[in-house]
Amino acid sequence: DGELKRWEGPCQEVISLVQVQKGGTLQPVILGCYPVLNEKEALEALEAAVRAYDNGCGLWPTMPVEGRIRHMELFVRKMLEKREEVVRLLMWEIGKTLPDSEKEFDRTVEYIRDTIEALKELDRTSSRFTIEQGILAQIRRAPLGVVLCMGPYNYPLNETFTTLIPALIMGNTVVFKPPKLGVLLHYPLLEAFREAFPPGVVNTVYGSGQKVVGPIMRSGKINVLAFIGSSTVADTLKQQHPKPHRLRSVLGLEAKNAAIVLPDADIEHTVEEILAGSLSYNGQRCTALKMLFVHNRIIDTFMKQFAAKVNSLKLGMPWEPGVKITPLPEANKIGYLQELIQDAVAHGASVVNPGGGENAGSIVRPAILYPVKDTMRVYAEEQFGPVVPIAGYDDIHEPIRYVIESNYGQQVSIFGTAPDLMASLIDPLVNQVCRVNINSQCQRGPDSFPFTGRKDSAEGTLSVTDALRVFSIRTLVAAKTT
Ligand code: G3H
Repeated sequence: DGELKRWEGPCQEVISLVQVQKGGTLQPVILGCYPVLNEKEALEALEAAVRAYDNGCGLWPTMPVEGRIRHMELFVRKMLEKREEVVRLLMWEIGKTLPDSEKEFDRTVEYIRDTIEALKELDRTSSRFTIEQGILAQIRRAPLGVVLCMGPYNYPLNETFTTLIPALIMGNTVVFKPPKLGVLLHYPLLEAFREAFPPGVVNTVYGSGQKVVGPIMRSGKINVLAFIGSSTVADTLKQQHPKPHRLRSVLGLEAKNAAIVLPDADIEHTVEEILAGSLSYNGQRCTALKMLFVHNRIIDTFMKQFAAKVNSLKLGMPWEPGVKITPLPEANKIGYLQELIQDAVAHGASVVNPGGGENAGSIVRPAILYPVKDTMRVYAEEQFGPVVPIAGYDDIHEPIRYVIESNYGQQVSIFGTAPDLMASLIDPLVNQVCRVNINSQCQRGPDSFPFTGRKDSAEGTLSVTDALRVFSIRTLVAAKTT
């Protein structure tokens, strides 16, 4: 109802896996707690969103574009006041380094500003009058209804807002569930939402997916599902909707992006790009390079330089200067990575860099695995952590076959210098994935570029401009003139 009241119900503690040294041992830190809603409370939040959409004359869905923009600009101003608090929580809740946490916040603000500009342009070009066959029509871009937004832990702010913000600014109302890891950092922003938007337009729900999101999906009142996370969860959510095939979904899912290093690649440059591409934020990016194919003619030189770079990465706490490898926030991740490493070793691979895969508390030293074969789990599974599998190849069709046969289809990187060979690879690859990166790592940005994937990697396309279209529909008002 637009008022902030003290939460009297049950709460869930958030324990950071960023550990601190206390009396000679590493200990987890309790960061705070968040409210745990029950089914009734979750459905009340949904009803608030439905009311704000259905009865929203002049309030939100029918508000002129300039009005919605003014609200969004106010939100940006309020959000900026919370920068320090959100950045601090990004470090503590998900273990992201200080520079990367600042970048996530600033990139999100930039994304909102770009969205505002893109909406002005879209409004100029898509809202128009036309007369055809004696019918005067006003064509409009209209909202879709109630959008459920859920984002992942690795970009709990940015990824969530790249759906939530365009959904909102197009006039939809939103139910938003923050990720379980990265939940507290949304708390300072609740106040900003409350101050910037009319009641019922943004509704934040907390609690377990089953108890909170399940009833919301089963109600059939969600018009768009905007979810970034695992394909298994996405499938479950869609199936909960009474008419799963009628539900509009915008999904960002898993990926297993490959790098293909050709025999004439500039090794020094390639090593730098692959290092950042595979191990930024401990490899916990959907766009990370998760399988490397290096031509056998250069593999020894590549491996020597790559292993030296990996070993030089500084391990530590997110706020320490120069740190690159930080604690992993997911409690079961270390066990999973060790399983992948053991499986690869049992099938003939070695950990190339001494100490790779070993952990101190929740910090895992990156492991380079070589030679990786298709019989190993790490060849196909998305490790989403600091493990870098490498295979040598002689025939270029081997890495191409990998890309074709993968369950995923987000991006690929190719490294080389011979223009003809590079050019001959681009068309076959771009028809299997959605972005081919030449002599550069895989990445989402710039945010004006289309971001999507084939197969189990995505549904729908996100970019500043694409997202405005995804969260709206072309409607018209038509009148006979004769
Ligand atoms: O986890 C997926 C993110 O969208 C990756 O974004 O390539 O900018 O790190 P990024």
